Amino acid sequence: MDWLIAPVTVQLLGALLVIGAMLHLAFSLLQARRDAVQARTVHDQRLRILEKDLAGAAARHLRAVRDAEGGWSGSRKFRVERKVPESDTVTSFYLVPHDGKPLPAFKPGQFLTFQLKLPDRAKPLVRCYSLSDSPSETDYYRISVKRLDPPPKSPEAPPGQSSTFLHTQVPEGEILDVKAPAGDFFLDLEERRPIVLIGGGVGITPVFSMLKAACAAGYDQEIWFFSGARFGAEQIYKDDLRALEAAHENVRIRLCYSNPTDDEKLGEHFHHQGYVGVELFKKLLPSNNYVFYICGPPPMMAGVTADLAEWGVPEADIRMEAFGPASIKKTEPAPAVAADAPTFSVEFAHSGKTVNWSGADSLLELAEAHDVVIDSGCRAGNCGTCVTAVRSGAVDYATPPAAAPDAGSCLVCIARPTSNVVLDA
Ligand SMILES: Cc1cc2nc3c(=O)[nH]c(=O)nc-3n(C[C@H](O)[C@H](O)[C@H](O)COP(=O)(O)OP(=O)(O)OC[C@H]3O[C@@H](n4cnc5c(N)ncnc54)[C@H](O)[C@@H]3O)c2cc1C
Ligand code: FES
Repeated sequence: MDWLIAPVTVQLLGALLVIGAMLHLAFSLLQARRDAVQARTVHDQRLRILEKDLAGAAARHLRAVRDAEGGWSGSRKFRVERKVPESDTVTSFYLVPHDGKPLPAFKPGQFLTFQLKLPDRAKPLVRCYSLSDSPSETDYYRISVKRLDPPPKSPEAPPGQSSTFLHTQVPEGEILDVKAPAGDFFLDLEERRPIVLIGGGVGITPVFSMLKAACAAGYDQEIWFFSGARFGAEQIYKDDLRALEAAHENVRIRLCYSNPTDDEKLGEHFHHQGYVGVELFKKLLPSNNYVFYICGPPPMMAGVTADLAEWGVPEADIRMEAFGPASIKKTEPAPAVAADAPTFSVEFAHSGKTVNWSGADSLLELAEAHDVVIDSGCRAGNCGTCVTAVRSGAVDYATPPAAAPDAGSCLVCIARPTSNVVLDA
């Protein structure tokens, strides 16, 4: 029998050995897999921590850069320390930081962006206002706001929301949310070239800041300052302008009234009757070799910039800012729509609307025309309020935006489609 048992035992032992080896292999594989999963989890956790660290570092870097540049991230609380009427319709607001920390410097001509909490609105209303005093005034920021009534053509329309709110519902002591000074329309004091500053109506605010900054910095080049108003009661900063001219022999102020009152005398109360324009510059300036800084109502700016170009002033020496919706091109009017202009479909994904674009309108104007609500502030590519994700398709800008958004998003206030697009709006 032994000779029979022996082979069975050997076979059994062999089978057991094979099973054992297989089990060992299976356990090893399982362990290796478990180790790999664990290692992966640890790796993912480390990656997440690293990502967090990087995001934190990026945010800190951004804050550091902003602080170094004289700004801050997001919005900061400011208290209205003083409200000073400049005219029947314009009031200056002196703003001090609520946190009591120092005020960063700004460049003369830049603006602040406000997020105003109006009582009847769910979302804050975003509006931009130019800094109207000199950066050398380091204790406060000042803005000067014109209260907008309904336009004469539409007397039944509501008055300007933000300007009326600031004038009537923001008393001294009120706290406002304010974004850091921004904007590319500023006087470069290092440039040291003769300058012409032109302000139409409340468009005087950024150029007045430039004038005060230049005087405070001892700018030694010729400075011409033209201000356009209808009559004396609408001309703000009159006393300051005269005082600056008296104190600085390189400064020449010219007040231009288009419709002076009977008791306002040419040569005594104002310098020129009529609009600010290139005909006047030709009479007064020895040449066109100046840098021109212009801010005013769109028709004035369109006219003056076109005439300056015709006078031979290089485009680089014509610098301007438009307030409000009419962000105008330098010399050309809005392009006419050619008969064979391409038509693109624009889908506003959240609103469930798809419409055709075939013209010169910005995507913001197209959205508004079809009751798609997108928040906007400057409507000129400066404040970043209207940033909207582009889900698919491509857009373009006539001029590169000052507040360039991240890849995959666009500033709809100045963007136009160059293909069919789907917007996250
Ligand atoms: C960079 C920049 C700097 C600026 N700096 C200054 C500054 O220093 N000072 C200043 O005063 N402004 C400045 N502005 C303009 C400012 O941002 C606001 O646009 C301005 O105060 C008007 O805003 P609002 O909300 O009062 O008027 P909105 O409510 O926008 O109304 C604008 C006008 O439209 C009229 N309106 C409203 N609804 C209708 C309707 N249905 N039909 C017809 N008309 C209607 C209103 O009566 C009003 O006259 C600046 C703008 C920019 C972009
Ligand atoms: S509204 Fe200011 S960037 Fe578009």
